[in-house]
Amino acid sequence: MFSKQAIALALSIAAVEAAHQGFNYGTTKTDGSYNYEADFKTEFQTAKNLVGTSGFTSARLYTMIQGGTTNDPIQAIPAAIASETSLLLGLWTSGGNVDNEIAALESAINTYGESFTKLVVGISVGSEDLYRNSVTGAKNKAGVGINPDTLVNYIKQVKSAISGTSLSGASVGHVDTWDAWTNGTNAAVIDEIDWLGFDGYPYYQTTMANGIDQGKSLFDDAVAKTKAVANGKEVWITETGWPVSGPNEGDAVASLANAKQYWDEVGCPLFGETNTWWYMLADAGSSPSFGVTGSTSSTNPLFNLSCNTTSTSTSSASASSSTSSSTKSGSASSSSVSGFATSSRASFGVGHNTHPATQTSTPLIVATQTASSSSGTSASNSGSSSSGSSSSGSSNSGSGSGSGSSSSASATSTTSFNSATRSTGSAFGALAAALVLAIAV
Ligand SMILES: *[C@@H]1O[C@H](CO)[C@@H](O)[C@H](O)[C@H]1NC(C)=O
Ligand SMILES: *[C@@H]1O[C@H](CO)[C@@H](O)[C@H](O)[C@H]1NC(C)=O
Ligand SMILES: *[C@@H]1O[C@H](CO)[C@@H](O)[C@H](O)[C@H]1NC(C)=O
Repeated sequence: MFSKQAIALALSIAAVEAAHQGFNYGTTKTDGSYNYEADFKTEFQTAKNLVGTSGFTSARLYTMIQGGTTNDPIQAIPAAIASETSLLLGLWTSGGNVDNEIAALESAINTYGESFTKLVVGISVGSEDLYRNSVTGAKNKAGVGINPDTLVNYIKQVKSAISGTSLSGASVGHVDTWDAWTNGTNAAVIDEIDWLGFDGYPYYQTTMANGIDQGKSLFDDAVAKTKAVANGKEVWITETGWPVSGPNEGDAVASLANAKQYWDEVGCPLFGETNTWWYMLADAGSSPSFGVTGSTSSTNPLFNLSCNTTSTSTSSASASSSTSSSTKSGSASSSSVSGFATSSRASFGVGHNTHPATQTSTPLIVATQTASSSSGTSASNSGSSSSGSSSSGSSNSGSGSGSGSSSSASATSTTSFNSATRSTGSAFGALAAALVLAIAV
């Protein structure tokens, strides 16, 4: 019964099931101070234990550099090692600090070795640099970006830096707004990378009908347009989300109910199926506020994050085996590494603003949105950092209000969801399920 084939089949099913699922994490807290190892650890644990979900075990970072240092590796790395959180690394390439980003990456490899490199899902060279370099980015005062030729050069430098190290097998990509991908002038970047990171926010797509009921179709349409130019390369969802509070953007209304609808319609089908890093776990009390836990590190989300199980493809494994209750909870099976990711509160400051918002200190975070007419627009934000960067820390200070208000709501609603879904421990659960299936066969 436990034939090699059965086990191989089980393993392959589990592998298919695995997709990385997590949040984006910035470098600063609400008050603008830096996140250190303990702060990242708290956030990763929060994501892992987020009520009503399972499988939020991956973290996307915007920079390799620890806040407050020139080029020390970001302390999210030891926190990820301690919590078995997988990592989508990022190098902040706008602003001319690439050498320090690469130095921090090399230093991380030397310092932490395979305990670090085995957690790496991929490396993004840059974040929304092409968007900031575009007509739309300029119109939104998104800040200084870089042109595709420079970006290609940076990607080559990063590949060269990791070659011959324990990270040499890592896949190298780039994250940008979807309309930067569909801009043919940027095609040389696609030729140079292994995967495309998709950032898209229907909330900001104000040149089109963008009420919450159009959210899913705008998202799906943008993903389809990106896949159409990807030359068969994988498209990973590196940022999307809907704000729980904040101003209206076109027809889009920021609210808990709409954030839940977007999570259900856009997030739930992705979790466990497609590598996805949601924007975001917690934010700095900015407006609009995208944090599913508001600006705190509470494991009680502001709205119900449980997903219906009855969805799509995961069903075979889950149905057959386990347990699972009614919800797919954010996840199901996801990645093998169980960690969690979350972001920290703070993070990059402001979420996606229509205008770039820079963030404080070290990393600079820019948030922007785009609305381009041609392809339909996109919006996105990014957070990132580069050390030394210029900007002032304006955004962070923002508001706290949005999030504050929402948190009360959350308390009420959340308690109930918890239990049902916590179920299966992700990858392990999937594997167990797959084994059951294989044995039965
Ligand atoms: C398309 O990309 C190029 C190169 O990044 C940029 O200069 C141009 O502004 C972009 N076009 C639009 C419409 O954003
Ligand atoms: C989840 O399932 C319930 C019961 O079938 C249904 O009423 C509800 O609309 C579903 N929610 C979503 C987001 O699909
Ligand atoms: C949470 O949302 C899911 C999916 O829509 C639904 O099936 C479940 O009943 C909700 N739970 C609560 C406590 O509202």
